[in-house]
Amino acid sequence: MKKLFVCEAEKMENAAKKRFMVKGMAVMIANVEGEFYATQDTCTHAESSLTAGHLHGFMIECARHGAAFDIRSGEAKILPAVTPLKTFPVIVEEGKIYIEMNEDV
Ligand code: FES
Repeated sequence: MKKLFVCEAEKMENAAKKRFMVKGMAVMIANVEGEFYATQDTCTHAESSLTAGHLHGFMIECARHGAAFDIRSGEAKILPAVTPLKTFPVIVEEGKIYIEMNEDV
């Protein structure tokens, strides 16, 4: 696992979700009440950006066809998506957000 810088934590207010490119992959970072979560940003249904969707607590709803995923586990909770999102461990150090990613991602 490699620790990769994503952004400054102060740029991520509560309930914010933002898209970042990390090692060529679109990653969504979300802040839910001070805890940060990282998933792939690309919906597993038809590849829309999930950052354009709606965050309801721990659920991100895709704006395109309404699929929803739990950002803690990546699990697809509402159709039409059935494939889970990739999730990444988040580390916050000295006000900076990092994610851990496998070398082969
Ligand atoms: S692209 Fe996300 S639900 Fe279809």
